[in-house]
Amino acid sequence: MVCLGNICRSPLAEGIMAHKIQEQYLNWQVDSAGTNGYHVGEAPHRLSQKVAAVNGIDIGKQRARDFSALDFEKFDIIYAMAKDVIDEIKWIAGKSFDAGKVKLLMDEVYPGKKVDVPDPWYGPEPGYHEVYKMIDKACENIIKKYAEQETK
Ligand code: 4NP
Repeated sequence: MVCLGNICRSPLAEGIMAHKIQEQYLNWQVDSAGTNGYHVGEAPHRLSQKVAAVNGIDIGKQRARDFSALDFEKFDIIYAMAKDVIDEIKWIAGKSFDAGKVKLLMDEVYPGKKVDVPDPWYGPEPGYHEVYKMIDKACENIIKKYAEQETK
């Protein structure tokens, strides 16, 4: 799960997905990272933590890290929160970029519509709740899609 700062959107995506993975007893690994490096080592934004907590998910122990080209070796799917994040991933990954592994997260809800999870960083709390809802729906669809494949 990748966004720019790894403090607002992708920590929520990691936390929500980890929660669903645990609920479904799936043997999946999820992690998150950011492309801009400004907040490496920091805990998620207090409003992301608050919105997660309201929904019964603790993301307080996460720490921001940089997205790396090596993530293309470690992970099967790389979900970007927005189109500008895909551009950054391309730039960071260089020759390691694998278009087949990179997806826009909201394509799992609105395929081909190129919908971004909006960056809540500059705005007030309602933006974080909206982002939570969008990511939660996408994660629900991912679980449905791939967990069903696993049991077939
Ligand atoms: P995020 O939000 O990508 O959802 O973590 C941002 C947080 C910080 C910055 C940009 C986006 N920043 O430029 O500091």
